[in-house]
Amino acid sequence: MTKSIATFLFCCLCQATLLAGEPDILIADFEGSNYGDWTTTGEAFGPAPVSGTLPGQMKVAGFEGKGLVNSYFQGDGTTGTLTSPPLKIERKTINVLLGGGGYADETCVNLLVDDKVVRTATGPNTQPGGSETLDWYSWNVADLLGKTAVIQIVDQRTGGWGHINVDHIVQSDTSYVVPASARQRELVLEKTFLNLPVKNGAAKRRASLIVDGQVVRQFDIELAPGEPDWWAHIDICSFRGKNAMLNVDALSRGDRGLTLVDQTDAIKDAGSLYDEPLRPQFHFSQMRGWNNDPNGMVYYAGEYHLFYQHNPYGCSWGNMHWGHAVSKDLVHWKELPIALFPWTQAVAHCFSGSAVVDKNNTAGFQTGDEKTIVAIFTDTGCGEAIAYSNDRGRTFTYYQGNPVVKHRGRDPKVFWYAPGRHWVMAVYDEDGSRDRKTRKQRIAFYTSPDLKQWTRQSQLDGYYECPEIFELPVDGDGKNTRWVLFAADARYTVGQFDGKRFTPDHEGKHQVHWGAFYASQTFNNTPDGRRIQIGWGRIPMPGMPFNQMMTFPCRLTLRTTDEGIRMFANPVKEIELLHGDDSTVCNTMVTPETPVAVATRGRLFDIRAEFEVDSAKAFGLRIGNTEIVYDVDKAMLMDMPLKPVDGKIRLQVLVDRSSVEVCGNDGRVYKTQPFRSDSEIDAIHVFSQGGSTAIRSLTVHQLHSAWQQ
Ligand code: FRU
Repeated sequence: MTKSIATFLFCCLCQATLLAGEPDILIADFEGSNYGDWTTTGEAFGPAPVSGTLPGQMKVAGFEGKGLVNSYFQGDGTTGTLTSPPLKIERKTINVLLGGGGYADETCVNLLVDDKVVRTATGPNTQPGGSETLDWYSWNVADLLGKTAVIQIVDQRTGGWGHINVDHIVQSDTSYVVPASARQRELVLEKTFLNLPVKNGAAKRRASLIVDGQVVRQFDIELAPGEPDWWAHIDICSFRGKNAMLNVDALSRGDRGLTLVDQTDAIKDAGSLYDEPLRPQFHFSQMRGWNNDPNGMVYYAGEYHLFYQHNPYGCSWGNMHWGHAVSKDLVHWKELPIALFPWTQAVAHCFSGSAVVDKNNTAGFQTGDEKTIVAIFTDTGCGEAIAYSNDRGRTFTYYQGNPVVKHRGRDPKVFWYAPGRHWVMAVYDEDGSRDRKTRKQRIAFYTSPDLKQWTRQSQLDGYYECPEIFELPVDGDGKNTRWVLFAADARYTVGQFDGKRFTPDHEGKHQVHWGAFYASQTFNNTPDGRRIQIGWGRIPMPGMPFNQMMTFPCRLTLRTTDEGIRMFANPVKEIELLHGDDSTVCNTMVTPETPVAVATRGRLFDIRAEFEVDSAKAFGLRIGNTEIVYDVDKAMLMDMPLKPVDGKIRLQVLVDRSSVEVCGNDGRVYKTQPFRSDSEIDAIHVFSQGGSTAIRSLTVHQLHSAWQQ
């Protein structure tokens, strides 16, 4: 071997050793059945490391091996410390897997030298929600080499996120935290969708998509470290041909999430789109991600527009955008690209709101023949804001004069008040008090000539978020109308409204909707004057690439009952567009000994029934494993009070893949609840307990899927 080759090889070897550094030293992996020579004070750390999630805790993930330190022992109320025996600092970094509360000095890991805290780190969470996933943190301790130290894990906080999760603590010559240069990906945007791998429960990363030096999208995402649960997508059509940079604020060693990001022209992994096991078949649900409240419900030019609170990047609440879908008949929906998204980095969320058609161009936004659709929503970055569309809701422009109303509150519902020729905004509003006990929750009413300048007119205490207000004829008589004020919790009040002030007709509130129904809204501008409502169907969809759904559209009416004027909710008649084969039973007595089965087939039904109450204590329908019971003694349909009318109880039951909606006595009560059926149903059973019940009529309509028809 020549001298120069030998020198070269020697140098390579030296460099390799330098790069690799000395082998890592494991300080603790918490794999044992106790804490070994670590010592505890207080209660929070329990007797030993745990194997993951503790009772009442969100799923703990991201730890290595089988055990970790989890101070959620007996909940957030406990406190304490866990301290290592003395150790010698022999490498340039100390790496630790860390999660839980993000409170300095209270939920933290400390490195102590000579009893002084020389390094500290907290978990990431201080807000409700968040994630129990552990992630690597790294201290550079080069200046402490050779010193003796102890590691102290601290939980001195009670209440939300009053705990800390810790695992593998390792001395190393390299940091386990991935550097910024390895947390970005250069891309040429050339297709329709940029696909991002999501693993539910993985650590949340803050991601930014930068095009031409501008941050065009910014969001939190549970970026899959490897194989994803599902793919989120960003519509990148408008950036076609541009160079872009996608970066995230943190990654763990070996995470492949960024590498997996790709582009396609069709939604990725969409082989079973709209046919997933829990996918509602005649209720709207978004292709991917999360929804909550329906927003911006408005009819224009042949289309019902349904916008909604939408997280495109996760299956739980977060990153609030306005998703968008349109329908010509309230049954078949087409999802369109996202309508409103946080326009600037400073803007955190687009919260709930409404939309109007500005027929008289009062705002002056109209540019062509199409009337302008104006969305009015809560921009959590500034206040009540507006955005407008001159292309039938396909794209929206953020109004530069925002906010149009600034107050403490959210969820503006706007409509045109024809008698006064002005706009009205009913909006959830709070007084300045941060103290829950004294804080006033109310609906404030504003008016405007042009959707831009608003004047506060009045307020009404005792209402929470997502107000809704509309006028309805009583018993169909257009000359005798009342106004209805409705809030997220589905409690409503009947009263008078003069364009500026609402005056209730009665004390207290009434209720028509029950169950998994929240934050509903009604369409502005319907072509036939019907008042049609959709709520957020709070139905979990575990294991699906989407979560939650919308309730089936209901027509609202006011009718006189023996208790006074009440609102009724009925599924819109368009459900009949999906009717398939039906089977009917009439005038049949049901007894405990002789239940009735109506043969049918499928998983989707519209069941209409009329029962005559007889000697039974209870009767009802059994659909798969679900029973819909009317308790005669208590006069309750499920948990809803309902008295027979002329001795009869009438039901309409809509059965979808994940939900069942039960409408009692022509809409006097209405309940939405989860429903699961793994296999096809071949009969609807009618039972009667403690006596007999007469079926006057019962028709089971099989339903077609709206996605397939
Ligand atoms: C109701 C609500 C609204 C808010 C929105 C945020 O569910 O809390 O008050 O605007 O959800 O997603």
